[in-house]
Amino acid sequence: MCGIVGYTGTDTAKDILLAGLKRLEYRGYDSAGVALERTDPAGETHLDVIRRVGKVAGLESELEHVDDESTCGIGHTRWATHGRPSVANAHPHACCGGNIAVVHNGIIENFAELRDELTARGHVFGSETDTEVLAHLVEEAYAQTHELVAAVRKACECVVGAYGLAAVCADEPGVIAVARKDSPIVIGRGEHGSYVASDIIALIDATRDVVVLEDGQFARLAPEGITYTDAQGELIEPEVTHIDWDIDMAEKGGYPDFMLKEICEQPRVVRDTLVGRLAPSGELDIDELGLTFEELDLIDRVYVIACGTSYHAGLVAKNLIEGWARIPCEVEAASEFRYRNPIITPSTLVVAVSQSGETADTLAAIRDARIKGAKVFGITNVVGSPVARESDGVIYTKANKEIAVASTKSFIGQIVSLTLLAMLLGQVKGKLTTGQVRMLFRELGDTAAQIQYILDSQREAVHEAALACKDAPSALFVGRGMGAAISYEGALKLKEVSYLHAEAYAAGEMKHGPIALIDPGFPVIAVTTKSPVYDKVVSNLKECEARGAKIIALATEGDEDIKQIADHVIYIPPVRDAFSAITASVPLQLLARDVAVMRGCDVDQPRNLAKSVTVE
Ligand code: F6R
Repeated sequence: MCGIVGYTGTDTAKDILLAGLKRLEYRGYDSAGVALERTDPAGETHLDVIRRVGKVAGLESELEHVDDESTCGIGHTRWATHGRPSVANAHPHACCGGNIAVVHNGIIENFAELRDELTARGHVFGSETDTEVLAHLVEEAYAQTHELVAAVRKACECVVGAYGLAAVCADEPGVIAVARKDSPIVIGRGEHGSYVASDIIALIDATRDVVVLEDGQFARLAPEGITYTDAQGELIEPEVTHIDWDIDMAEKGGYPDFMLKEICEQPRVVRDTLVGRLAPSGELDIDELGLTFEELDLIDRVYVIACGTSYHAGLVAKNLIEGWARIPCEVEAASEFRYRNPIITPSTLVVAVSQSGETADTLAAIRDARIKGAKVFGITNVVGSPVARESDGVIYTKANKEIAVASTKSFIGQIVSLTLLAMLLGQVKGKLTTGQVRMLFRELGDTAAQIQYILDSQREAVHEAALACKDAPSALFVGRGMGAAISYEGALKLKEVSYLHAEAYAAGEMKHGPIALIDPGFPVIAVTTKSPVYDKVVSNLKECEARGAKIIALATEGDEDIKQIADHVIYIPPVRDAFSAITASVPLQLLARDVAVMRGCDVDQPRNLAKSVTVE
């Protein structure tokens, strides 16, 4: 959570920082701030720290009154952890002398004791944040080192926790010191200076060649160049990564919001995730697997660990892995998995699913699983992310940058990737023949066109359904099998973007309690696509209908009977049950988005949320 950005060069720093912060806003939007170097008429450099509660737009209006002269500064957009959103708690945080300012993404776990020690040594704190200790620690260290990067390095030695941080010092004009441990930092050199940010997206206008800083590495950015050092202060030459995706992907491209744009990109995500995955021999080709077929053949238990939407992709995968490979598969929230003592042996495969690749609980679960001897396979959307780096193998979901806080296209990419993995396990275990794999692969690819068909033909039906439930106090999502798995995701999507309370239940569970909620007009959104349990779901719906529920059904095209019980029907093309989660998720995403728009919500940045959850 939180986004940091920094620039030093020859251009106007405030413009570059603001543009970067806007792109990083998905990481947090409780408050924003910048520290800009300013030279007074006597030639002395000072730091101006300007902070505002709320989104970057608020900071932008504040900065209109600041002149354009500064060419060096750092900025931050915050998701509150320690301390409520307030100006005092907004970053950057300055030291007592006001000559050093720090922005930070991460958590300083030992901040309370550091704060006590620093207070005892005379430091005065102005915020409730963990970050402020960094500013004071750097201040103390700078008094000894007189060199900013060395001071930051010394400060980091005292700190337990995670950080991606950038610091400036009025006594070293034009220099930005950067450090990283467990929180992302990318650095790049453009024509007009040096740039740092939490995410490539904030520097892609300036350069496509970036350094993804590793844990324990430091950087010194200056207008004329960048130097990198290790934890001992020795110079290093980090690897440069070339970015080949386009900035258009980070813009709305004519759509009213990123969520809709990203929903509409899903046909491409399916296609891209599948490119090159089926060898002419009929073997699935997952070259980043990191595990031999012999190792895969020994797997006798699979855990899918993930959080939120990624966890729901895991629920879909369970059906496929058990169905095709006949390997027992459990799906568990990473936040639970890491604190139990799951049964793990060397023949256990842990599949960690994470769009961002940096979710704290998922990472901790990966580390725990590896210590216990499991093979770990990552499914992530971010190349080089911690999940990718810490797993034995990885499949990238090829969703490209996802900006809306609510996951949509990355979810589809995850399901497609997990489907490939399930097919591969089925193939390796000898449960799926090459012919079956070819057929499944072709049908999986067909879902791209089916999603497009839904996007083209069902928008009006979804809109009508959204109107029907937008004023309800609550809604229920129900389904069975695959339908149950995506009902959970449908309910999550609706509540997170529209703030309309929603729950999901396996439809057969309704009569064990939730049906008590139903009174006339209560919206029930049901996944009633053709599947082996179709009749069962329909009977469950009849029980809801009998109690006056307003039924919105997702049905397979051609199913006219469903109209007898449903008030609204959204159709999806006929598809194999195994792939129905891919297609049926799309109307549920559209429904959530439409309800949110109708209720006047900020669909891309729902309250209290952030895209990357890097804290426990
Ligand atoms: C909901 C959503 C979250 C994430 C969750 C895990 O729309 O996006 O529930 O799925 O925070 O994030 P990742 O996948 O980055 O680990």
